[in-house]
Amino acid sequence: MMHTKRVVVSTQVTAEDATVRYAAALLRAGELVAFPTETVYGLGADGLSEAAARAVYTAKGRPSDNPLILHVDGREMLTGVAAQVSTLEERLIHDFWPGPLTLVFPKTAAVPESVTGGGDTVAVRSPRHPVALALIRAAGVPIAAPSANRSGRPSPTTAEMVCHDLTGRIALVLDAGPCTVGVESTVAACSDGRITIYRPGAVTAEMLSAYGPVTLDPALSGAGIPKAPGMKYRHYSPRVPVTIWQGDGAAVARSLKAHYRGDCGYFVSRETAALLPPEAHTFIWGARADCQAMAHGLYAALTVLEQLPITEIYAEGVAARELGAAIMNRLAKAAGYHIKEVK
Ligand code: TXA
Ligand code: MG
Repeated sequence: MMHTKRVVVSTQVTAEDATVRYAAALLRAGELVAFPTETVYGLGADGLSEAAARAVYTAKGRPSDNPLILHVDGREMLTGVAAQVSTLEERLIHDFWPGPLTLVFPKTAAVPESVTGGGDTVAVRSPRHPVALALIRAAGVPIAAPSANRSGRPSPTTAEMVCHDLTGRIALVLDAGPCTVGVESTVAACSDGRITIYRPGAVTAEMLSAYGPVTLDPALSGAGIPKAPGMKYRHYSPRVPVTIWQGDGAAVARSLKAHYRGDCGYFVSRETAALLPPEAHTFIWGARADCQAMAHGLYAALTVLEQLPITEIYAEGVAARELGAAIMNRLAKAAGYHIKEVK
């Protein structure tokens, strides 16, 4: 078993700092390094190396037809991997990078097949996290990075979650504390001035609609084969079944109270938790209207709750608009689309 080193880094780091240079040297030598981004932790490999990218699939236990996202430190590095960038894409890059927006481009010959799953497009984003940006800059190459979890586990939002899944399988974990956003980036593609969302994230359909007509990949609502291959795989489902209680917030809270069970874990807002008995197994995300707090807590809540002596998880749903669309996309998968409508 490989020894996995975990090093704490400050969010003030630069590409010149010793730890970052050490991590970059490991990457250039073909090793795997987990690092924080603003969304979730990534499992990084040299994005221009066929062998390094292939090692990512082995470490994660991931199907090799599911392509990886290349992480760049800005627009300039994109030129080496994207064969074409449209005017619309330039505008989106200008306004949303660095940030949680991944765009799909026709790839250049420099991008290895193991990154794209053999396809002729490549997904690229520039992360907003200072540690991620410093690492890419120090490596001098795009970093291929899926979320740093074993296939079928939740995306890690802390270094502890990364270590739980990948200790013994990778060289290094850079630990800069919890990720701020908590759900993976928006994946989108542009064509003829239109934007198609393959995976909803913190750059929302509402935000993107200021730039052109936005459509959701129909597969997101269950029709056909998804354009982002990763969306077709079974995603994380906790040890116990999850049910989403969807509807008006106050009505959901009353309903959860009326159906209270001591052997249930609850992922709920503060307002709903106030109606449950004090001994209830709750993970409270914050105020009901605070979708950012809900996204931030989502993956941790599921992994924490499943370790409690419970037989089911009840999650309070939110409206699937803006950031709520990304949250409900992930939560519905964890729940196997088991959603109870509350009137
Ligand atoms: O926030 C994120 O995007 C995180 C952090 C680490 O940056 N990364 C992440 O990677 O979530 P991963 O591998 O777990 O998810 C990548 C998603 C998958 O659904 C994959 O199918 C899709 O992006 N994807 C990658 N390349 C694609 C391509 N060329 N065309 C369509 N979808 C693509
Ligand atoms: Mg993932």
